[in-house]
Amino acid sequence: MKILICGGAGYVGSHMVRYVLDNGHDVVVYDNLSTGHRGSVPQGVPLVHGDIGDAGKLARVFAEHRFDAVMHFCARSLVGESVTDPYAYYENNVGNTISLLEAMRHASVDRIVFSSTAAVFGHPVSDTIDETHPTVPINPYGQSKLMIEQVLADAAKAYGLRSVALRYFNAAGASSCGSIGEAHDPETHLIPNVLKAVLGQGKGLKVFGTDYDTRDGTCVRDYVHVSDLASAHMLAIDYMARNEGAFTFNLGNGEGFSVREVIAAAEKVTGRPVPHEFAERRAGDPATLVASSQQARDELGWQPAMARMEDILASAWNWHLQPRF
Ligand code: UFG
Repeated sequence: MKILICGGAGYVGSHMVRYVLDNGHDVVVYDNLSTGHRGSVPQGVPLVHGDIGDAGKLARVFAEHRFDAVMHFCARSLVGESVTDPYAYYENNVGNTISLLEAMRHASVDRIVFSSTAAVFGHPVSDTIDETHPTVPINPYGQSKLMIEQVLADAAKAYGLRSVALRYFNAAGASSCGSIGEAHDPETHLIPNVLKAVLGQGKGLKVFGTDYDTRDGTCVRDYVHVSDLASAHMLAIDYMARNEGAFTFNLGNGEGFSVREVIAAAEKVTGRPVPHEFAERRAGDPATLVASSQQARDELGWQPAMARMEDILASAWNWHLQPRF
């Protein structure tokens, strides 16, 4: 197969590129390098430097290659930023995704795996969140992803597009070889910020909110290894070969960790203290997000290989210790 990976220079996308190559398929990466890194794309893999909002460039890429499927990772993905700059989120995550879907339609490419998010659920109404949980986003980021899920459902009916939207809970960890990992600038995610605090890098770790209705007052999240996300995408491609329509699956490990628990686990894995201070709540954060991924296990055959928090942290720590830091 030949797969177009939009956002393949980014965090999840670059792990995906390696996974697809390891499984013997061809890849073209399309990325505007706004948050991704040229160096994260393996040598020999074509990298088209472009924006998915650029219809002309997309059309040329689809004319040049015959793709069997598209994987779409291009998005703005920061909850807090989406609250302060919603136009940017709707323009990129919604408007530009429709430009990509249009380009696919013109090129008769009818399969897409879409990176969605647990942020579509908003405040959970149950302890674990399955696919039937109400979707009531509490920030523009989650809303923008939910809008595209709706577009995909409509496109299935109107154009016969096959799609799988994968709702990631908290993507974390790094590749086992230590060559790629989570490198945002500025970094807002918990695990990289915790590990940078261990190394004395960054501006110092702040724990956002200690008065949530959780077991220790800090937010609880379900961390899922980035390589396990990649394996789910390949299974989604197989699934679309067997099933017509638009599908959504949750991807998480079904276990929640509070911010304090992540810090404690990081102290264990690194053998060093994690300096931190407590701060106000961050806008747009729900107290708890924990997945039920039973449907992905049953229907996709997904089996996470790196489900333990210690393994996730150890892979990220290994990457943080590489010489470039
Ligand atoms: N946090 C801190 N300090 C930090 C960074 C984060 O206390 O320096 C806290 C946050 O307030 C939150 C938790 O750690 O309670 C996790 O925060 P992240 O920024 O790591 O992740 P989010 O839960 O905000 O968001 C991530 C993705 C979203 C996705 C969401 C779904 O960035 O795209 O997971 O669970 F929607």
